[in-house]
Amino acid sequence: MVMLTARRYFSAEGIDVDPEAECAFFSSLKMRNGTFKLTRLSRFAAVEEAIRPIIRERAGSIGQVLDVGASSGLTTIELVDFLQAEGASPRVIGTDLFVKAHLVEISPRLHVLADDEGWPLQYDLAGRPLRAWVRRLDYFTLTFVPLLLGRAVLRGRLAREIAEGRSMPVRMECQALAGRNIKLVENDILVATPEFVRQFDLIRAANILNLGYFRAERIRTAIANIFSYCRGPGSLLLVVRSHGQDHHGSLFELLERGDVAVRARIGKGSEIEPLILGRTSADGGRRA
Ligand SMILES: C[S@@+](CC[C@H](N)C(=O)[O-])C[C@H]1O[C@@H](n2cnc3c(N)ncnc32)[C@H](O)[C@@H]1O
Repeated sequence: MVMLTARRYFSAEGIDVDPEAECAFFSSLKMRNGTFKLTRLSRFAAVEEAIRPIIRERAGSIGQVLDVGASSGLTTIELVDFLQAEGASPRVIGTDLFVKAHLVEISPRLHVLADDEGWPLQYDLAGRPLRAWVRRLDYFTLTFVPLLLGRAVLRGRLAREIAEGRSMPVRMECQALAGRNIKLVENDILVATPEFVRQFDLIRAANILNLGYFRAERIRTAIANIFSYCRGPGSLLLVVRSHGQDHHGSLFELLERGDVAVRARIGKGSEIEPLILGRTSADGGRRA
């Protein structure tokens, strides 16, 4: 499959982009905090199978849903379809730290997709896509040199072009989100958001609260925020991490007095289960 350039993708308004190509495009983007927009079509079919009985039983009480780290919103749509098929009629908000981006023309042969602060996400070199991030192999092939130099040289220029309005603002969301009743908003799960407090009956955090992405301390902060966003006892939290086709996750339920119980496990369960079950009273949990 030929990788899409951002310029081609975002100028494709009115044209249906192949969903696989769209997924590959978003998945190739690495954000400035080290996380990827990596997502996949029908990624959570096996996870849905594992939690289906509980969701079916609770469908009537699942009104507000939050999908944390939703990337382009593709799997958020699939989550909504799953919940609706089980009888729920949820209002859904997907959040991601990086939704807004900009296309900047540096020269007729060089266009760059950059985040709000001018951090390059993808280069378009005469119509050919080039990743802006460095992978391990690049240190052996010395490809890291032009990549790091390019970023260092371009970052200031990109930030200036964006600040002075010489860019095309775009939203990193999938085409299928248009016409769906799902809000995709920029939000940092590490920063408490007062308007989310006690709002949600079901929260999903898929492939975001990974120990590979964040240190345990930051994950504890995210967990505290997430539990404060739960409506109250009975609210559900699904945490999943995918390894290729395999998933390891846990479905938690918030109980009275801040206690939490595991209602289902997928694979080996979530790697952050100990952090969730061992929350202290300082994070809104009971254990001290
Ligand atoms: C690997 S993707 C997961 C996408 C989707 N949930 C899935 O599993 O297919 C991780 C997403 O988390 C977002 N992200 C990273 N740090 C975040 C933060 N602090 N708050 C909210 N979203 C964040 C990234 O921008 C990226 O889109």
